[in-house]
Amino acid sequence: MIPKGQGVSLTGKRVVLGVTGSIAAYKAAGLVRAFLRDGATVEVVMTGSATRFVTPLTFEVLSGRPVATDLFEAHQEMKHLTVPEQADVICIAPATANFLAKMALGLGDDLLSTMILTAQCPVVCAPAMDGGMWTHPAVTAHVQTLRARGVVIVDPEEGPLASGRTGAGRLADEASILGAVGSAIFSRKDWSGHRFLISAGPTHEPIDPVRFISNRSSGKMGYALAEAARSRGAQVVLVSGPTALVPPSGVEMIAVESAEQMTNAIIARLAWSSVVIMAAAVADFRPKQAANQKLKKQAQCDTTLDLERTVDILSTVSALRDRQLLVGFAAETQNLIPHAMEKLKSKGLDLIVANDVTAPGAGFGSEQNAATLIDRHGTISELPLKSKRRLADEILDAAARLVPDAVHARATDLGSKMR
Ligand code: CTP
Repeated sequence: MIPKGQGVSLTGKRVVLGVTGSIAAYKAAGLVRAFLRDGATVEVVMTGSATRFVTPLTFEVLSGRPVATDLFEAHQEMKHLTVPEQADVICIAPATANFLAKMALGLGDDLLSTMILTAQCPVVCAPAMDGGMWTHPAVTAHVQTLRARGVVIVDPEEGPLASGRTGAGRLADEASILGAVGSAIFSRKDWSGHRFLISAGPTHEPIDPVRFISNRSSGKMGYALAEAARSRGAQVVLVSGPTALVPPSGVEMIAVESAEQMTNAIIARLAWSSVVIMAAAVADFRPKQAANQKLKKQAQCDTTLDLERTVDILSTVSALRDRQLLVGFAAETQNLIPHAMEKLKSKGLDLIVANDVTAPGAGFGSEQNAATLIDRHGTISELPLKSKRRLADEILDAAARLVPDAVHARATDLGSKMR
């Protein structure tokens, strides 16, 4: 979970606060005060459009430092290089859809976007936008690209917007932004030394060369878990069925199509791993015989597909495992808890993430998810609707509480084999 900001000391840390042209720019004034209260020094950099909403003077008075706005004025002091060099974090709040697009594309047409291109420190973005822009496919794609590149995105909240409409796009609350900045500066490496084998996405089971059986999984939950584990210090192998997602940077990706290919890829890397998370929606059945040629409707009078069961990868891994921590998912449409408990037991898991895939706003394809976690001791915890990335961190928090000494010992064994 991205911790809320209370209590994290930022003493001695230098925060560059980038303010872009959104009505939420006035909320950045509160952020300046909060960063100062937590002990940081704050250097505010504004885009030209941000200065139409709030004057640089406001931020100069609050931060006690000059506010940079212009690439060419700042150029004499090479601010586009020196400010990011000295920063512990760059926080863009609010970040407009336009600014996210510039960052994703690597444009440097003003001081702030140029600074992002030279920055070596962590970058945190808190988007804010109205009128449904947050869910526009272009914005979604840019956010995905940025996340894959390691930028921390603090998702906007649902609620009343400046236009009077209601929707997703309100700047996240101050505590969430402070929490993300604190985590980015003192990034938790609680999974360092561990090796995660994570499956994601659907599988495609061929009927003939052009047709297959599949399901609605987008892969977003598994990719979010891979990104969270990597940013918390783990080495990660992501075995992914076909998805439209960009793999997170720093993660080894193995692309597969069918359940059989996924089984082989997982088994091949099992001995390497210390934690296995099966987030993939593996097809349970496949056509007994995939046709070599496209089935023609004229010639084909038999309209029945003859199916057979695929291998249950989790159960196989459970039987073969050597101290790995095992996390599974349960996608259910009814009787969530009893069905998930049954899977936890029958598949020999340490933790199961139960999803009601019919819940509004959650499940397959959605950016958000809600889940019930059940661990091997029978402890049940409810995680209400939140972004899949935040949920991923909370699943890793729950898994961390279950890591027995044996799993730590295994991670250490694996580490010493590498030396
Ligand atoms: N799983 C697997 N191999 C399969 C099917 C499922 O490893 N052939 C894993 C999934 O990745 C998930 C868990 O088992 O972690 C539960 O998957 P789910 O689809 O919810 O349940 P099933 O086991 O397929 O059972 P059912 O379809 O009866 O609900």
